[in-house]
Amino acid sequence: MCGIVGYVGDKDLGSVILVGLEKLEYRGYDSAGIAAIHNHRLVLMKKAGRLKDLYSIVNGVVFNGHVGVGHTRWATHGKVNDINAHPHTDCNDRIAVAHNGIIENFQELKKELEAKGHKFLSDTDSEVIPHLIEEYYKGSLKDAVLKTVKRLEGSFALVIVSSLEPDKLIGVKKDSPLLLGVGKDEMLLASDATALLSHTKDIIALLDGDICVCTKKGYEIMDFEGNKVEREIKTIEWEPTMVSKKGYKHFMLKEIYEEPDIFRKNIQEYIREDDFTLLKDYNLRRLLLNKSRYYFQASGTSLHAGFVGRLWLEKMAKVLTDADFSSEFRYREPLLSKDTLVVAISQSGETADTIAGIRLAKEQGVDVLSIVNVKNSTIARESDYVIYINAGPEIGVASTKAYTAQLLVLLLLSLELAALKGYLSDEQRRELVKDIRKLPDLAERVLHLDDEINKIAEEYKNSNYFMFLGRGFNYPTALEAALKLKEISYIHAAGYAAGEMKHGPIALVDKNLPVCFIIPKDSVYEKTKNNLLEIKSRGGKIIAVATEKDDSIKEFANHVIYVPKMPEILEPIITIIPLQLLAYHIAVKRGCDVDKPRNLAKSVTVE
Ligand code: G6P
Repeated sequence: MCGIVGYVGDKDLGSVILVGLEKLEYRGYDSAGIAAIHNHRLVLMKKAGRLKDLYSIVNGVVFNGHVGVGHTRWATHGKVNDINAHPHTDCNDRIAVAHNGIIENFQELKKELEAKGHKFLSDTDSEVIPHLIEEYYKGSLKDAVLKTVKRLEGSFALVIVSSLEPDKLIGVKKDSPLLLGVGKDEMLLASDATALLSHTKDIIALLDGDICVCTKKGYEIMDFEGNKVEREIKTIEWEPTMVSKKGYKHFMLKEIYEEPDIFRKNIQEYIREDDFTLLKDYNLRRLLLNKSRYYFQASGTSLHAGFVGRLWLEKMAKVLTDADFSSEFRYREPLLSKDTLVVAISQSGETADTIAGIRLAKEQGVDVLSIVNVKNSTIARESDYVIYINAGPEIGVASTKAYTAQLLVLLLLSLELAALKGYLSDEQRRELVKDIRKLPDLAERVLHLDDEINKIAEEYKNSNYFMFLGRGFNYPTALEAALKLKEISYIHAAGYAAGEMKHGPIALVDKNLPVCFIIPKDSVYEKTKNNLLEIKSRGGKIIAVATEKDDSIKEFANHVIYVPKMPEILEPIITIIPLQLLAYHIAVKRGCDVDKPRNLAKSVTVE
């Protein structure tokens, strides 16, 4: 949610910042802007629209200064236009600030500053920041920033540059992410590591309440009182090529195709021979065994993974499990006790509501485990224990590979816990390990259906509404499939538990309504089939995701996507893959910007 990249060093400022912004554009793409030092002055260029619109004015400009900052915006305050684009400046265009977050007390600050003669140009909350710095500037940018941050309420990652001190790049972090990339004779500040990778892998995740003052030769980190603090440099493993499309038309498609390899990686990481090793940490194992209730809290796709996790934990490990949206969980005074384990699931590790849910649990002395993709992210750092899903950088705004990787980790967690609790015999455990080892192959077989799915997409690309129905493990699949389709194709779509369909949604069925059933041959097959017939008899168009060789489905469905036969507990990890592809192809055919759907952002760092 808004991406920032700041640079101090000798490389070409314009291209370092634009290329950095390209990597961060998934965080917001309402407008983009850059402020850089040129001829000892601050030059500001900003434009509503996608980054390519900014490229058209910045490309080719050579800044002869060494410091600059860029921003890609997801609008919160003030509509999308050139003026509201970041960075924002003070009255004399000498101080520029890029901001990610929300300044909650901006109205009173604005009034105060206006009374002192400051002139505001935009409708944003962020513009108060450069004016405050201007107000407090008495010869030291650092001191002015220190005074400014004490006046701000809300969440803010800031990157500040100024022609008054043109060798400095200053970063501030509170409740929005900001990383420092430590290079040789260059420093970078960015909202996430993807923008840093091509310059350095040595990264410091700034903590809340940190201010970082960088020159190209070094950096100093202090708290909001100005006291020096030490932060550890960590070297990250991601390679720059992991954030390229590798020949695929879209990141989303590339990421769907990475799913088999991510299963392989996690199997290698979390299974040894015929045993699970996810819980190799003794303390974590003990903690999990001691809890009588688990509580998943997550947002979007990650919560859908939590819905599946709940089913697995209850069925296999026989532990009472709840799952809720973080945005609900945090405000509804959930009943938590010392016996509860709060489990946060997040791809980015930066979702504001999920972080707030963790803090709520911690305030009540409740332990938190998180299941995260991005290493060293805020959620990973703030949780008592972390399990990584090892999906690599996910750039497409619609989450795909992170979802199936979350599912695999949740399945392993449930099974290992079940084994530890004595609910699985050695024989059963060995069989289950064997089954899980088949996942990469199963996923690859589903990817071979791509052309077939593309043809189905052609037929339904102009539909106005879609319904997805599934039972048991595939009810969350229905929810996730509907979310994928609406996110990227803007077709209204809803997922329901198949048995609930008759209590309302069935009223929507007519000959124009495509209804997608996730109906593999499993313990709820016959029940789901009854629901399918109920839709059929009302004229709905049926697409079925079914088990290969299930010929009877062909009689009733307009289209069948056959997935391989697999044990029921593996189903949700595989049945979503054809539906990710279906959403992708429909969106492409409708001319939608698949990787950057309108109004969305990948990392939602505001509540
Ligand atoms: C945003 C993204 C979704 C994602 C959700 C939760 O809404 O667009 O794709 O599922 O945030 O993100 P997280 O990083 O916490 O999994």
